[in-house]
Amino acid sequence: MPRQFLTGAELSASELAALLDRALQLKAAPLSSRALDRRSVALIFQKPSTRTRISFEVGIDELGGHAVVLRSDELQLARGEALRDTMLVLSRHVAAVGVRTGQHEMLEQLAKHSAIPVINMLTNLHHPCQALADLLTLREAHDSLAGLRVAYVGDGNNVARSLAILGSLAGLDVAVASPAGYALEDDLALPADARGSLTLYADPRQAVDGACAVYTDVWVSMGDEHTADARRAALADYRVDDALLDAAAPGAFAMHDLPAHPGEEITAEVLYGDRQRIWDQAENRRHAQKALLELLVEGA
Ligand code: CP
Ligand code: NVA
Repeated sequence: MPRQFLTGAELSASELAALLDRALQLKAAPLSSRALDRRSVALIFQKPSTRTRISFEVGIDELGGHAVVLRSDELQLARGEALRDTMLVLSRHVAAVGVRTGQHEMLEQLAKHSAIPVINMLTNLHHPCQALADLLTLREAHDSLAGLRVAYVGDGNNVARSLAILGSLAGLDVAVASPAGYALEDDLALPADARGSLTLYADPRQAVDGACAVYTDVWVSMGDEHTADARRAALADYRVDDALLDAAAPGAFAMHDLPAHPGEEITAEVLYGDRQRIWDQAENRRHAQKALLELLVEGA
């Protein structure tokens, strides 16, 4: 079986630590690896993307490889070709495939039929590539992640779930504050060798107490547009602003996976101010994913 990256829990704690170290090296020397020399990676998008597409395409190029970007409406998949057949063909041509899709089960089906590594580029349940960049951003600010407290304030969605899974694997204590009806599941399974923890709160101020970073994501994710009004009402008190950062640990900074909606989940002052590492986080997608591609493709 090829290595897969569907939830992030496929990595051991030591592999994750090594991946972050490697990502720091690649950030310092972006053209130093030829891990994908003349090999191709397919990227299937069933949903829009800015950061994921750019960071994967450029990162694959920097590794000496070639990205084949496939919008799902251009594939025979859109006309009913089986997932299995699509994967059987892709496996004959490319070294790995990244997939962004609405249903996590669809990704699992693809992975089941794949002879090559499958990378989750976002599903309704998980966004593990984002979490790698988040951890890299925290590593740049702190030599060790073990025992650091990171707060996430807002919708208990794919981004929050991946932060909890990969963050706890990296040794973080992840505190998630969400309103009733929008919380992460309280029985979320963390990886067996996770040394960190996940604690759920209703009160954002309790979650940020002692936190070195305060993370938020959109209130209305892709696919949630039909409940947008209810979400904005329920999440109105879960905005990341200067006052919430003041309630966190001294020197705490804001994080956001983007796209942002200034005035909703984060204020423009924080988003464009000097108490954030959000734009570093966006850049770190590329460096972290290059380290992931090296691990999956060279280890295949
Ligand atoms: N953060 C993130 O995944 O952004 P895109 O949706 O633009 O890829
Ligand atoms: N939670 C958001 C993340 C976007 C990168 C969504 O799924 O739309």
